[in-house]
Amino acid sequence: MLENSQTNQPVVKRLVVIGLGLIGSSLALAARQHGLAIEVVGISRRTSTLDLALERGIIDRAEESLAAIADSLGAGDVVVIGVPTLTVPAILQDCADLLSSDVTITDVASVKGSVVQAAATIYGALPPQFVPGHPIAGSEKSGVTAAKSDLFVNHRVILTPHEHTAQQHINLVEKLWQSVGAAVSSMPIREHDEVLAATSHLPHFLAYSLVDTLANMRENREIFRYAAGGFRDFTRIAASDPVMWRDIALANRDAILSVLDQVMADFNQLRGAIDSGDETYLMDVFTRARDARNHFGKLIESKVLEQPMSEKTINYRVSPGGVAQGDIRVPGDKSMSHRSIMLGSIAEGMTEVTGFLEGEDSLATLQAFRDMGVVIEGPDQGRVVIHGVGLHGLKAPNKPLYLGNSGTSMRLLSGLLAGQTFDVELTGDASLTGRPMARVANPLTEMGAVIETAAGGKPPLRIKGGNKLKAIHYVMPMASAQVKSCVLLAGLYADGETSTVEPAPTRDHSERMLRGFGYDVTTDGSKASLRGGGALTATRIDVPADISSAAFFMVAAAITPGSDIMLRHVGVNPTRIGVINILRQMGTLIELSNEREVGGEPVADIRIRHAELLGIVIPEDQVPLAIDEFPVLFIAAACAKGETVLTGAEELRVKESDRIQSMADGLLTLGIDAQATPDGIRIQGGQIGGGVVHSHDDHRIAMAFSIAALRAQDEIFVQDCNNVATSFPDFVALAHRVGLQITPEVAGH
Ligand code: S3P
Repeated sequence: MLENSQTNQPVVKRLVVIGLGLIGSSLALAARQHGLAIEVVGISRRTSTLDLALERGIIDRAEESLAAIADSLGAGDVVVIGVPTLTVPAILQDCADLLSSDVTITDVASVKGSVVQAAATIYGALPPQFVPGHPIAGSEKSGVTAAKSDLFVNHRVILTPHEHTAQQHINLVEKLWQSVGAAVSSMPIREHDEVLAATSHLPHFLAYSLVDTLANMRENREIFRYAAGGFRDFTRIAASDPVMWRDIALANRDAILSVLDQVMADFNQLRGAIDSGDETYLMDVFTRARDARNHFGKLIESKVLEQPMSEKTINYRVSPGGVAQGDIRVPGDKSMSHRSIMLGSIAEGMTEVTGFLEGEDSLATLQAFRDMGVVIEGPDQGRVVIHGVGLHGLKAPNKPLYLGNSGTSMRLLSGLLAGQTFDVELTGDASLTGRPMARVANPLTEMGAVIETAAGGKPPLRIKGGNKLKAIHYVMPMASAQVKSCVLLAGLYADGETSTVEPAPTRDHSERMLRGFGYDVTTDGSKASLRGGGALTATRIDVPADISSAAFFMVAAAITPGSDIMLRHVGVNPTRIGVINILRQMGTLIELSNEREVGGEPVADIRIRHAELLGIVIPEDQVPLAIDEFPVLFIAAACAKGETVLTGAEELRVKESDRIQSMADGLLTLGIDAQATPDGIRIQGGQIGGGVVHSHDDHRIAMAFSIAALRAQDEIFVQDCNNVATSFPDFVALAHRVGLQITPEVAGH
């Protein structure tokens, strides 16, 4: 619903639209229909256009020139220049000659650099009253007869104000566009012209050119008769207004030439690949493009590109109480999903993965390998096919690898990339950028790698290529599977035998999966070793459900009287089952059934039922085995009778957030006595109240506090839950299935 269609409050005094093409007349029509201006005036050189506009109720009043009305215009009036790009300077000249400096002036041209330059020349300096704008709406149809009052609904309008543009004029133009349903954003002029050259101008020229080529072929009649789907889809925009596109081509010359050159170079390569029968190149381009298009498709469907969903803050409103019953399968294991892409990429042959976690973290790894030239099909309902390039087949990415929120991606990749021939930079989001990387940079440097970190050993990591790695025997200062895996992956590229010794057992998925790829890894107690220079052979990987995601529902059942939850096909690797051991020790009834081995990993169905929970002193040897599950285990502790004490868990302070502090703060807010200690926490079981808690940008904190609502007296409002998508995209839906009421809300709505 449009803001003003209900109230009919004018937002501008007089709206003067110069040029009644598709955009100008649609804006006039929308403004008139929704009562956005006291009067809508249309100006056109053609009387036939003005007559039509009057006849169709697009404007209130028609004028043949600005001079006829200029004297009566002042503050609160808006003049919209809706003529083709190269005609804009002539109209700006009229504006400069005729309008007072109180009148707001804006335009709708697709190119902003040339328009702004013209304004500066005409006025001597950029006038504060001029707000350059560009509605990203339109169609191949043109002219006043194509006017549509809803043309701008859910479309973007980009404004490119400059430093001299006055705020009151910007506000007025913004309000006008918002009132016809558009989402307004602003952008620097140069960026606007470059982005539009690539996303709008180039496709139009390709379409014009293709249709022209086909039309010039002698047998064109025949061709057009058979030209169905593909031709029609690709060339619809070649029916657009030639004057408009000629103007755009000339006005945005440099930006267009630069993308055109790029496309022509890519075209030539494609031609070469078709000529030489280079299947890999073709698969590479087509799969990459298909996946990119699918991704854009989702964005395009939601039309308002201004602020993709992931950039809007999502909060969870969780109702108190609820049951905890059901039979579910949670998404695939995150650690194994990462490793399946990494090892599949450097294996020889085609690896098929099923059960892959389509969360942002594992997708970041997947994208990184695509950026290094690996063809990866999918993911499609958890199925991914990786066309391995062998240990030495990765290519230099042409930009830094962006790993989002994912510590596992960054730490494992640093090992895998330390022995490549090319330089690479690894970056991530704000949370990842604050996490310690010296723990991987140190052993890799010892192996002969050259790695630069930012101050304090933080990302970004810059890894220099072309260094010969030597094998090391690394005694790890902390229990970390990421550090162990990093060193072992670098060991694949080192001369001799690389080994790691860990202070406590950590997840061993890397070792197991490497063996699954036919690579010899020896484990002897706390020591894992491998020799460099071998090869990985493609395999099939079935990723089981992630026990770290299952843990939320285990605790849900553990704390809710009358509960009974069955979790299917969960990975129960002995290095990951701390959560089962700890919950059992607290009194939860947990049964494992259908235990089997799938691709070298133990898997089981897990049934959990409620029984009264008792506070415990958590054995320190369980800490690495439950490292990711503590946030939700603290919720179990809050619901237990007596005190629960955790020690030896300082690693929790350097996860996606400081999980000891984040949880202690939230628990206190909810009325639970929780005391953070340097290496753990003390929690007195009690009655969870309700209130507003913060996720601290950490997926597991967000989900843990959502589960707490099952035993809360009042609603729990969890702020900033976007990060749940990093590991558990279906969380809200699955939680709903077992009886929780979580309502995601977009902040500010
Ligand atoms: C992981 C190891 C753990 C864990 C992380 C995933 C892995 O990190 O917390 O979520 O896949 O190797 P550390 O190695 O830092 O303990």
